[in-house]
Amino acid sequence: MSSATHDSAPLYEVRNVSKHYGAVVALDDVSMKIHAGEVVGLVGDNGAGKSTLVKVLSGAHQPSHGQILLDGIERHWKSPHDALEAGIETLYQESGLAPHLSVSANVFLGREEVRSGVLGKLGFLAQKSMDVRAHADLERVGIAVPSSSRSVSQLSGGQRQAVAIGRAVAWAKKVIILDEPTNHLGARQAGEVLEVIKAAKEQGLGVIFISHTLPHVLSVTDRIVVLRLGRIVRDAPTSEFNADTLLGTITGLITT
Ligand SMILES: Nc1ncnc2c1ncn2[C@@H]1O[C@H](COP(=O)(O)OP(=O)(O)O)[C@@H](O)[C@H]1O
Ligand SMILES: [Mg+2]
Repeated sequence: MSSATHDSAPLYEVRNVSKHYGAVVALDDVSMKIHAGEVVGLVGDNGAGKSTLVKVLSGAHQPSHGQILLDGIERHWKSPHDALEAGIETLYQESGLAPHLSVSANVFLGREEVRSGVLGKLGFLAQKSMDVRAHADLERVGIAVPSSSRSVSQLSGGQRQAVAIGRAVAWAKKVIILDEPTNHLGARQAGEVLEVIKAAKEQGLGVIFISHTLPHVLSVTDRIVVLRLGRIVRDAPTSEFNADTLLGTITGLITT
């Protein structure tokens, strides 16, 4: 089950990736794979390189060395837009929701449906159709929001996060990268986010889940990749970890 071997080619892969910021080596010869329908946990202490790896995977940063392969083909992302177009959605720690806009406007932010015809030429947005589709998209991934036309500033923190993750899952074609999506959420809300991750997996997406909340990582992932000081120190099926050994591997008390 979770420890299934993968004969199929990986969906997304980095090979021997390094990233230097001046003299700082944020990533050092990192290789990792993600398969369709697999949830991979990415964990490590502050400064381990998690966010840097996310930025490389999402096209926000270019690696100093190494390769990025999607469906076995080497890709060179020049911007997050390139990766997005190829089906890779990223939810950054800062979710990037626009609080003054409606839920549906947020779901469609940056990719608004434009009404065809004269209004379309003038650039008007098809508000009603966006509301309906946003609601359907969020519902499809298991997120209930009171009304898609409601302003995001009227939502609770948990609901906002639900919209952000729902937006990412609804649009993702291949891979979804979630940087600490359960931070600052109550237990029930965090549980809902974990359910959405399971739904994304069922859809056949590859999911990369970053979190410091180790019980969440242990409960929802198939495999865990542990980063320490820019290097991968462990990459193993989740079944090979428990809370103690995972923490020990992160802090460096346990070396293998
Ligand atoms: N833009 C940057 N310029 C210089 N150093 C950076 C930059 N971003 C990250 N770093 C450094 O790279 C290392 C890895 O950071 P980061 O990827 O943010 O780790 P994490 O997300 O695991 O906390 C740290 O030493 C950090 O200080
Ligand atoms: Mg970080």
